[in-house]
Amino acid sequence: MAEPAKPLVEIRNLVLDAATERGEAHVLRGLDLDIGRGRILGVVGESGSGKSTLASCLLRLLAGNVTRLTGEIRFDGTDLLQLGPAAMRDWRGRRIAMIFQDPMTALNPLFTVGSHLTDVVRRRYPKLSRRAALAKGEDMLTRVGIPDAHLRLAAYPHQLSGGMRQRVMIAMALIVEPDLLIADEPTTALDATIEAQIVALFDGLRRDFSGSILFISHHLGLVAELCDDLCVMYGGCIVETGPVAAVLSRPRHPYTRALLDCEIVVDGEGRLASIPGDVPDPVAPLDACIFAPRCAHAAAICLTGMPPLDPAGEGRRAACFRSAEVMA
Ligand SMILES: Nc1ncnc2c1ncn2[C@@H]1O[C@H](COP(=O)(O)OP(=O)(O)OP(=O)(O)O)[C@@H](O)[C@H]1O
Ligand SMILES: [Mg+2]
Repeated sequence: MAEPAKPLVEIRNLVLDAATERGEAHVLRGLDLDIGRGRILGVVGESGSGKSTLASCLLRLLAGNVTRLTGEIRFDGTDLLQLGPAAMRDWRGRRIAMIFQDPMTALNPLFTVGSHLTDVVRRRYPKLSRRAALAKGEDMLTRVGIPDAHLRLAAYPHQLSGGMRQRVMIAMALIVEPDLLIADEPTTALDATIEAQIVALFDGLRRDFSGSILFISHHLGLVAELCDDLCVMYGGCIVETGPVAAVLSRPRHPYTRALLDCEIVVDGEGRLASIPGDVPDPVAPLDACIFAPRCAHAAAICLTGMPPLDPAGEGRRAACFRSAEVMA
């Protein structure tokens, strides 16, 4: 059998600390993660688990109060953390593109859809004429499902619906043909019908987009539908990774199990259940399993330190001392 292709991105021991009034916040506590070529990797976890911070490390767009960023982010063999600012800017516009949760914050209200698109295209292909760039933009708008694309080129962001604005953002990201597309909660600002359409659009991308996608979401059901692989984050740690169907059908970490139970148990008013207890304090040191305080299976060993993200069969990994015993 042929060797499996090397992953597009290999993240090793990624640590990010930031200064806060209460002390150093340990926002990412040593992440190890691969993003496979042409694969869609879903990242899930409660609010505050570090999902957006992981995305910002890949783009190297960091807050001013970051005091430590160490480890490796090898992208096709190049460690992004070692690149200078100019090289990183170039990388961002060409090889990595990002779709944000709220398209209004990323679109300039003073510019038309057409100028947003030509701007991105000409930064990527400086020799292209404005006319050719516009034609490329129009084609991409059509491909992301915007009807009458040639008319939309002249529209301003506020003249479009939320779903259309999100499609414009997706078009702007895809038009540079990135190797990695990062989508941070791209559907949470949309209503359920539009959300379904955008998910269908991502699903359709599998056919004509050869890059990898990092898809951040709160919504396990959505990730199950769309993604190939899954990464479950908790308190700045990765607690479980693996092929999405395997992880969701037989979780190897109690936190994944608890997240799944929340999606299944909906109360009488249609609200999702939540896991009892509070998310960890990022300022606290990591001297026990990060999930132990909320874990139904916590035992003495769980208080001895954070368990490593160990292989758990079939391309899977889990960070739980008791996985084999309690998650079988
Ligand atoms: N620059 C920073 N300074 C201080 N704390 C930070 C900084 N960046 C992130 N944090 C904290 O780190 C934790 C993780 O934040 P992050 O935004 O990555 O979480 P998230 O998983 O994306 O959450 P959400 O689902 O709400 O978007 C949060 O507790 C956040 O307050
Ligand atoms: Mg976030």
